[in-house]
Amino acid sequence: MHLSSILLLLFLVAAEAAVIRHPTHIEKKGKSSESEESKESEESEEVLPTDDIPDGLDMVHVNVIWRHGDRSPTSAMVGDQVTEASWTFGGGGWGELSPIGMAQQFRLGKKLFDRYALNNTYLSETYRSNEIYVYSTDFNRTLVSAMASLAGMYSRSTAKVDRDYPDIPDWPTNFVPVPIHTELSGKDHIGDPSAKCPRQDDLLRLVMRTNDYKEASGPEAQEVLEYLRNATGAPASKITFDNVYKIADNMMIEGIWFPENVSTWYPYYTEEIREKVEDLVTKGLALQNGIIVDKIQNGVDLSQEIPTIRGGPLVNDIMAKARGVIQCRRRDSNGQVNGCKDSDKFYRNLKYHAISAHDSTIDAYLTVLGAKLNVSPGNPKYTASLLTEFFIDTRNGGTEQVFRVLYHEDENADFRVITPEVEGCDDDFCPIQVLQNIANKLKPPGGIEQLCLQRIPL
Ligand SMILES: *[C@@H]1O[C@H](CO)[C@@H](O)[C@H](O)[C@H]1NC(C)=O
Ligand SMILES: *[C@@H]1O[C@H](CO)[C@@H](O)[C@H](O)[C@H]1NC(C)=O
Ligand SMILES: *[C@@H]1O[C@H](CO)[C@@H](O)[C@H](O)[C@H]1NC(C)=O
Ligand SMILES: *[C@@H]1O[C@H](CO)[C@@H](O)[C@H](O)[C@H]1NC(C)=O
Repeated sequence: MHLSSILLLLFLVAAEAAVIRHPTHIEKKGKSSESEESKESEESEEVLPTDDIPDGLDMVHVNVIWRHGDRSPTSAMVGDQVTEASWTFGGGGWGELSPIGMAQQFRLGKKLFDRYALNNTYLSETYRSNEIYVYSTDFNRTLVSAMASLAGMYSRSTAKVDRDYPDIPDWPTNFVPVPIHTELSGKDHIGDPSAKCPRQDDLLRLVMRTNDYKEASGPEAQEVLEYLRNATGAPASKITFDNVYKIADNMMIEGIWFPENVSTWYPYYTEEIREKVEDLVTKGLALQNGIIVDKIQNGVDLSQEIPTIRGGPLVNDIMAKARGVIQCRRRDSNGQVNGCKDSDKFYRNLKYHAISAHDSTIDAYLTVLGAKLNVSPGNPKYTASLLTEFFIDTRNGGTEQVFRVLYHEDENADFRVITPEVEGCDDDFCPIQVLQNIANKLKPPGGIEQLCLQRIPL
């Protein structure tokens, strides 16, 4: 670690201790602060809010990644009692965002507004085109999630008629349309870790040769799988360690939408079995993300190569935008801002970069940060979000920069600081170089498209 970084960290620790807490906008929590954790901190006066910003730190850029809200199953599971035709919401059919999901995303948008825009503290209270850039994977459910989240942020009474929306009788009250960008789904290596990539297919075949895989899918797992096959009459190939997540997912969703029916339809899916199946899913997620002890196969380091493909393009996209902004804000020795060319200003003044995506995207970023097992070992829930906030320390001519990461576990959770879980960070605020080093290490050599075409002889 550089001496300057150590000094900065020491300073931050000192600042944490010295600053008398006067609430900033950023301390405001979401409405649903019913969790045990927040009750505890309200009771104890000693406990300082974990997401306060020390004096002198200027927030300059934020990246937010969220998983979409509640949806229909993406396909039928073995023994499914619900057909595609029965999923009628969100346009109908497999994998669509439900009204519950829309409401979840709307509320997430409101929480993000409270955190970043209330009283124009960081973002403007009304939509400004040069402040935000919203990207979604090209799935109906993530696109609609982005729309709902943005409605939660900007479709409110502060919006102005004839500026933010038209003055016509049937326009929905206060509705402000906000642009959402996307990329063809097969080519979207930023938002979709499972976008088409032959090399990743090879790597996942190598994962099956590891002791980690053999253990996770061993006798204990096989007993659960055999139980499910017995109960459904399915042949061996239909229920395996690799596809059992399908059962976990559909059972979870049907429990939400058909609560009165699931115990009649699937009497074999007891609480005990549900827990065992979800345990298999958790083990499968670690393997899929390259979190593997027996990691060298065919001379390939799976723990390096898999995150490079699944999370490398993502973390590099996040860093490219953050660095662009910081470059523009840099001051010279006379205190003048002289960072970037006029032509770069649009994206480089970007305050809020949102990515509307999937559980797999949350997992990919958590893995890249080295925080998957500690923060969310199981499948990320609906609206699970990761916030990466970037700050310039204004006291040293803007030469020191730090970031912090927060996790939003589900719709009932607050934003929780998880920076100390990031590999190489030991405080709530961490030198930006740590994240840059991660991005550099996981930058796909020759670009992701080229890398994906390089097959591994198996
Ligand atoms: C925002 O502004 C309103 C009205 O001016 C004020 O009542 C409220 O306390 C402010 N909230 C914060 C968090 O500063
Ligand atoms: C999304 O909507 C289109 C029609 O607009 C439909 O063909 C497609 O199956 C839907 N699902 C996904 C996942 O995009
Ligand atoms: C599955 O069924 C077979 C045949 O009835 C039985 O021998 C076996 O114990 C069952 N396995 C489980 C895990 O229930
Ligand atoms: C679910 O159960 C309820 C109550 O028994 C019943 O009225 C309803 O028809 C069932 N739904 C389906 C789709 O079978």
